Amino acid sequence: MSETLANLLKEERTFPPPAALAAEANVTDVAYQQAADDRLAFWETQARRLEWSKPWDQVLDWSNPPFAKWFVGGELNVAYNCLDRHVAAGNGDKVAIHWEGEPGDTRTITYADLLTSVSQAANYLTELGVTAGDRVAIYLPMIPEAAVAMLACARLGATHSVVFGGFSADSLSNRINDATAKVVITADGGYRRGKPSGLKSIVDEALKSTPSVEHVLVVRRTGQEVAWGEKDLWWHETVEQAATEHTAQAFDAEHPLFILYTSGTTAKPKGILHTSGGYLTQAAFTHHAVFDLKPETDVYWCTADIGWVTGHSYIVYGPLANGATQVMYEGTPDTPSKARFWEIVDRYKVTILYTAPTLIRTMMKWGADIPAAHDLSSLRILGSVGEPINPEAWIWYRETIGHGNTPVVDTWWQTETGAIMISPLPGVTATKPGSAMTPLPGITADVVDDQGKSVPNGGGGYLVLREPWPSMLRTIWGDDNRFVETYWSRFDGMYFAGDGAKKDDDGHIWLLGRVDDVMLVSGHNISTTEVESALVSHPSVAEAAVVGATDPTTGQAIVAFTIPRGNVDTSGEAGEALIQELRNHVAKTLGPIAKPRQIMLVAELPKTRSGKIMRRLLRDVAEHRSLGDVTTLQDSTVMDLIASGMKDSK
Ligand code: WT7
Repeated sequence: MSETLANLLKEERTFPPPAALAAEANVTDVAYQQAADDRLAFWETQARRLEWSKPWDQVLDWSNPPFAKWFVGGELNVAYNCLDRHVAAGNGDKVAIHWEGEPGDTRTITYADLLTSVSQAANYLTELGVTAGDRVAIYLPMIPEAAVAMLACARLGATHSVVFGGFSADSLSNRINDATAKVVITADGGYRRGKPSGLKSIVDEALKSTPSVEHVLVVRRTGQEVAWGEKDLWWHETVEQAATEHTAQAFDAEHPLFILYTSGTTAKPKGILHTSGGYLTQAAFTHHAVFDLKPETDVYWCTADIGWVTGHSYIVYGPLANGATQVMYEGTPDTPSKARFWEIVDRYKVTILYTAPTLIRTMMKWGADIPAAHDLSSLRILGSVGEPINPEAWIWYRETIGHGNTPVVDTWWQTETGAIMISPLPGVTATKPGSAMTPLPGITADVVDDQGKSVPNGGGGYLVLREPWPSMLRTIWGDDNRFVETYWSRFDGMYFAGDGAKKDDDGHIWLLGRVDDVMLVSGHNISTTEVESALVSHPSVAEAAVVGATDPTTGQAIVAFTIPRGNVDTSGEAGEALIQELRNHVAKTLGPIAKPRQIMLVAELPKTRSGKIMRRLLRDVAEHRSLGDVTTLQDSTVMDLIASGMKDSK
């Protein structure tokens, strides 16, 4: 990837932590030293944040790589650690969740309330015959019952498989069948963009081909009409009538906690399996360290959906294990207005905000005057996750949302890693906009070349993890071979993350996107991320997505889809002039080799529901093919918009 490296953004700004924050930080630079001196002892210390019914005999069993066992012989109950122990410690009245529905309805849920609901759900699931080791599919909107359902499964040792509420009946039935789930927990519907959208009807469709499902538990959220079959049970008539006391039983540290399917834009989705003790240890530690969570005073808000791993680790397990008070929001950021997020921050005095670059760029596009009209002074830490954050968006986030003095933590991790792996620590790290900086204490990440050799500072290649970590995936559900093949075969003895990365001159890590997103133009490797970054650095550009399209002369050619900022004139000649200007701008920023062959001005970009740009579809457009499967798109009309509204240059 040498060309890519030579072209990388020359980003030289650094932002040291505010002195007051550093002085009070949960984790200081001592942690790096402790972990370097004795990695396993470091993780043992972190595991002691949890309450174990039986201590472990061995920290890590790596005798059969890549199949790891952490905290061998230890026993705990994950839900007990998220609820009971806080209530037992006298924090039952503390707010666990400030929930806000999209229509504006709200619920305030204390730790004691949450424990009661989870106990009721555990009791009723037991009545339905759910026992430890069974799989339960959860297909719910962002309502508190989603967290309740997950924790009830955890409490019983049942393995949950949350399927994002926007997935199609097909995706749902595939996931139910892969895990042979016995029960499905859903709702009549949920609110999105001001309208109730149906979920139960999709479950009905999916259940035509899911022989394993015995019962469907349905939460009433919208009150819309639903068809009713003999497997269907209303949540309010069953769970909410069940006994409110439930004694949690301890399970082995390696007991399966959940399966979560990765987006899978091409191949069959992989059921990523996570287990209990190591997963909760790292989710809790990273939430404590990266967000500097002070459970007494902070109000934390992660804007992810519970259907993604971010929602699992940083809405449910990490924050609740740490006794945090958090905000949970059901809907979209522009309902009823584009100020919704900032109203929420102001209303609940949110102190820690964790969101995705795609949202940050959307907010940029909507304009700084929207957040400026709200009091965001409560914010003290800002997090980013999901894809590389370009320096412009990073700076905008810090300046416009974080009043110019709030640390931005760019957190790199994956569904597979279970928890944050590479990130600044807000009280320690002098951050660089666009860099995830350094592996967290206890994590050994590296960048290697084709041969698996560590690259020197200034070099680039593939991101790998050299040693097992507590919250690592244990396998792909039902497919150990694919687990070994996908992650452990590219480089000997290392986990291959599938991301390109570089080390800067100080050894800090910059993520470059998925390695499949590297283009080969006239024999030069150019990453889609850096061309996108160059485009977005132009004042007329709000967002950009870049793909490599087959080209008879250059092998691949760079094709860019660009969303202009709201105030930019794109009509007729002005549009043509802008396209030329942008091509030259990229050439000037990255070198002539990176000059896009073609730039299209579009109104929207196709994204998965987790916010990842679906480059596969854009490649179809760029190569004039008919479109492939669009069912995982967040908004399936986007591709029509692109095809019709395209301003093309050649
Ligand atoms: C892929 C994992 C981790 C929760 C959400 C996504 C990309 C994630 C960053 C970041 C650059 C990032 C990587 C990774 N990614 N965070 N901070 N900087 N890239 O989980 O759907 O499993 O996707 O997201 O490409 O491999 P996921």
